[in-house]
Amino acid sequence: MIFTVAIDGPAAAGKGTIGRAVAARFGFAHLDTGLLYRAVGAKGGDPVAAAEGLATADLERDGLRTLAAGQAASRVAAIPQVRAALVEFQRRFARREGGAVLDGRDIGTVICPEAEVKLYVTASAEVRAHRRWLEVGGDESAVLAEVHERDARDMGRADAPLRAAEGAVVLDTSAMGIEEAVGRAIAVVLERMEGR
Ligand code: DC
Repeated sequence: MIFTVAIDGPAAAGKGTIGRAVAARFGFAHLDTGLLYRAVGAKGGDPVAAAEGLATADLERDGLRTLAAGQAASRVAAIPQVRAALVEFQRRFARREGGAVLDGRDIGTVICPEAEVKLYVTASAEVRAHRRWLEVGGDESAVLAEVHERDARDMGRADAPLRAAEGAVVLDTSAMGIEEAVGRAIAVVLERMEGR
């Protein structure tokens, strides 16, 4: 069975948590595409060469989850040749046998517009910054500034800017716990499966 769940949305909206839970529920493979951009940003040197030569080991290096790695990822992600180098791998993953969940910024808009399910997971910047701050600590207002900066870059870039794909179900998790958000996402997938 080929079945793709495309999950897009801004930083710290809950895409990863929802993506992992949906994949586990349906036995689908899961790809956190932000990790690809984080790995390219962390490699240093020429980002286009880094993207073209990206290997599995690059995705396993330490420190990819830090705020600094997120900012570096967001910067290299604005380079069209970097994005182009990562397209084929993501498309193959999306259409693999057995089902796939991909979360990122352009999955429903560019990578897999034909996905069976498209979700746009969002939350207010304040709520997202608070969640991120609980994970990383430090100064909460600095985390909020970081969220605003990354939103502006990811939504404002010319190539594959972050936006809800056509036909995407919008899930605003500002006032939702994890269980509720995951439950809603699973309900959308089940509904789509039953309608096939
Ligand atoms: O989801 P994340 O925070 O790990 O993503 C890090 C950065 O990578 C994000 O700020 C923008 C970029 N990104 C992207 O441009 N396209 C994707 N599909 C995933 C991430």
